[in-house]
Amino acid sequence: MSGRRGVTVPFAVAPMMQHTTTHFRVAMRGLSRRVMLYTEMVHANAVLRGPPGLIRRSELEGAVALQLGGNDPALVAAAAKVGYDHGYAEIDLNVGCPSDRVSSGAFGASLMRSPERVAEIIAAVRAAVPLPVTVKHRIGVDEIDAYEDMERFVETVAAAGADRFTVHARKAWLSGLSPEQNRTVPPLRYPEVHRLKASHPHLSVVINGGLWSLADARPHLEHVDGVMCGRGVIEDPWSMLGTIDADWFGEAPPARTRVEAVRGYLPYAAAEIASGEPIHRVMRPWIPIFTGLRGNRAWRRALAESPHGTLRDLERALDGVAEAQRTV
Ligand SMILES: Cc1cc2nc3c(=O)[nH]c(=O)nc-3n(C[C@H](O)[C@H](O)[C@H](O)COP(=O)(O)O)c2cc1C
Repeated sequence: MSGRRGVTVPFAVAPMMQHTTTHFRVAMRGLSRRVMLYTEMVHANAVLRGPPGLIRRSELEGAVALQLGGNDPALVAAAAKVGYDHGYAEIDLNVGCPSDRVSSGAFGASLMRSPERVAEIIAAVRAAVPLPVTVKHRIGVDEIDAYEDMERFVETVAAAGADRFTVHARKAWLSGLSPEQNRTVPPLRYPEVHRLKASHPHLSVVINGGLWSLADARPHLEHVDGVMCGRGVIEDPWSMLGTIDADWFGEAPPARTRVEAVRGYLPYAAAEIASGEPIHRVMRPWIPIFTGLRGNRAWRRALAESPHGTLRDLERALDGVAEAQRTV
């Protein structure tokens, strides 16, 4: 993913509401130093007028893109400036979210209907911050779903200086489908994303949608600059990120084993819990870390019971998992 002012990162973990929180991002950074991470989508209004700490980040997260929602260029630019001041590495505009709440506010995926407006937002953000400014969008919305429609959208927005286009390779139906259905029902159309890159080689294009494993993802790098994976990372973080630094980047990973990765997170967890965060929320990213391995069930049980216990109980559970795996 090489942006005009950006770095080249061929793998990104998708922005996901209720999931890609600070805790999740710190946890995933404990598996890979090299992948790009995103926040959940935050509306520009909330950044400017919401509770303090809404977009707080930890130094442990490394490079993270702040994903903004909104349709008012001045407002989004002002929110981007706040993100810059917080140390975010990139600003991404959400043009893909199909939820009712989002469409009725005329941002998210409904902005695919208004490429000129998106171009104005991108130009305003670029003028406000010295960071890569990127767009995450769909192939189309409702009846505006031909390849040529997407191409016109991308060309218009690229002219305003967008540094990267991440394409969720399916259209969204804004009326009639729920957000969940909009992630499964409209068919995936990878060839159109490949075609976008082939006919605009100077643009940085990242493909997203339905890439559940590294084996699914890697072949796309023959056609586009990067891949973005969401649900696959949530469901099986180790398989997606545990070996990617070594396999894709030729570097030593931050943790050699899953147990080591969880242990590495515990000092952060302890500090968060001490400052009042509930233990189950802090530990949530690690629920599926032992999927398919011995000790998985005991680990999940320990996490389920964690609201009634302490971090020390989880450390003991982790020792148990390590022991179970040694005796395989
Ligand atoms: C629970 C959940 C929340 C999501 N929230 C966002 C979001 O805040 N911003 C966004 O651009 N996409 C959001 N998405 C869409 C993902 O970023 C991604 O485009 C989609 O899940 C397809 O990728 P995948 O098949 O690898 O999961 C969300 C997806 C899920 C499953």
